[in-house]
Amino acid sequence: MARHLITSALPYINGVKHLGNLVGSMLPADVAARYLRAAGHEVLAICATDEHGTPAELAAVAAGLPVEEYCAQQYVVQKELGERFGLSWDHYGRTSRPQNRVLTDHFAARLHAEGFTEIRSTPQVYSVADGRFLPDRYVVGTCPNCGFERARGDQCEQCGKQLDPTDLIEPRSAISGSAELEVRESAHVFMRQAALAGRIRAWVDTRTEWPQLTRSIADKWLDEGLQDRGITRDLSWGFPVDPEVFPEAAGKVYYVWFDAPIGYLGATREWADLTCTPDRAEAEFDRWWRTDRGAEDVVYTQFMGKDNVPFHTIGFPGTLLGSGEPWKLVDRLKSFNWLTYYGGKFSTSDHRGVFMSDALELLPADYWRWYLVSNAPESDDTSFTWPLFADSVNKELVATLGNFVNRTVTQVVRHFGEQVPAGGEPEAPELEALDAARARLWEYLVHMDALEFRKASAALRSLWAEGNVYLERREPWRTVKTDRDRTACTLRTALVLAVVDAVASIPFIPHTAERLATCLTGSTVPAGLLDAGLVDRALAAVQPGAAVVPPGLLFEKVADEQIAAWEDRFGGDADAAGSPGADPVVNG
Ligand code: 2FM
Ligand code: ZN
Repeated sequence: MARHLITSALPYINGVKHLGNLVGSMLPADVAARYLRAAGHEVLAICATDEHGTPAELAAVAAGLPVEEYCAQQYVVQKELGERFGLSWDHYGRTSRPQNRVLTDHFAARLHAEGFTEIRSTPQVYSVADGRFLPDRYVVGTCPNCGFERARGDQCEQCGKQLDPTDLIEPRSAISGSAELEVRESAHVFMRQAALAGRIRAWVDTRTEWPQLTRSIADKWLDEGLQDRGITRDLSWGFPVDPEVFPEAAGKVYYVWFDAPIGYLGATREWADLTCTPDRAEAEFDRWWRTDRGAEDVVYTQFMGKDNVPFHTIGFPGTLLGSGEPWKLVDRLKSFNWLTYYGGKFSTSDHRGVFMSDALELLPADYWRWYLVSNAPESDDTSFTWPLFADSVNKELVATLGNFVNRTVTQVVRHFGEQVPAGGEPEAPELEALDAARARLWEYLVHMDALEFRKASAALRSLWAEGNVYLERREPWRTVKTDRDRTACTLRTALVLAVVDAVASIPFIPHTAERLATCLTGSTVPAGLLDAGLVDRALAAVQPGAAVVPPGLLFEKVADEQIAAWEDRFGGDADAAGSPGADPVVNG
């Protein structure tokens, strides 16, 4: 059994995440982690809040809190919401923690020692009124290309043109609106990505199994030629540059995109410090991250939206490779397109769309998990609409899985009491139903192994449907009047299929699946059951006379009035949406 390290892109600290953020990283990472645990693998699932950078500073100002306090509060909020969504992290850390600072300093010093850093003086926009340097996107002005009046200093949102702040006509500060801007020279640490390009390319070329979306983005960046990248900023919130290593850049902080991916290691170290005795923590950390100290057999899988791919195929691997040390690099990199809200963008800053906190107010996590992962934007952008969501819940969760389980348990209890019926021998229909379940399960496992979540969910849905097909074929509600033994065998077989459904569904709908398995088998599901032998294990587990506890209705239908009310509350109007894309505010 392999050991699996799983990370999802670390969510920014500034505010509750929306369903688009969730489905592009944290949720599929959890589905994969739960699947691998259920299949018997050793798994370490790591996430953390990404806390540095200007948006955190500005959000703290808006909240009237010191930035440290703001981050501490938001961390608790995000962690709690993730847990309520069933995200089964082994550890949820923070990029601002001391472990990450030690590692960030370490990598910067290693890059320096290996000759992959350089100090460069760069012109930066300084706002006299704000008393600070402004990151590119906090300078706004008129686009020289299309005339859009609120173009940002890095890119025009209207025409898409890449810009420098100095290209803007009538530039002003996005913070204060002040036009009193100056260009001042400032010394920064650069990572010499161009010099690392050969190593990065050679490594990328070994990742032959990457999906198309990931590969095309990595290739595009490499083909266009890598630029050296500033890894420090003129901000106050961040990890301070070590003045002993970079005296010229003393007083600056590391760029958030430098320390954030190192946060995968930082959070692992937090976990090791929490779960091991002090003398063991380093070795445990190394066992996951150092290929010379035990991590050579780790399979490392990352999950992220497509905007994050360049940082994870170029920037972060560049840091690890440039260190000259044997760090574990990503093996499988699963990236996602956008989930849109009625064809427009979900937006944290405009609070457009459905956010994790809203979602849990409306329905339990499993409804969302199922809809989002079975419609994950794998090959294209996918649009969230309330009718599509309701349709998926009603047809799949309610009418397929819920209906099968409910019909089975109702018949069992009505005719045989709260126990597995005894009597009768399997005949061809039983054997065929079990074979069909084995075939569907097999498809499901193949797609899960390939991280193809839509195909996996289609196979899972077909597995659930086999139960209904079988009941329709055997009609226990009819045969109970004439052949009690046959009916007992039918319902016993249906209970076997329901147990298979429960165990197979754990990655997608863990709360419901665990409840169902516990009701039907009397205990929670141990790890290691979800493989091609599951049907036979379930056959052995469902013994005549064993207790069956009715689980109650697994899912409730979403009614038309609810759809209307939610469209009303959250907006269902495609015209109001902007064009799809990344959040307008990302850490700069
Ligand atoms: O895009 C984002 O949400 C970033 N906070 C992802 C960071 S991933 C990693 F590098 F930390
Ligand atoms: Zn423009």
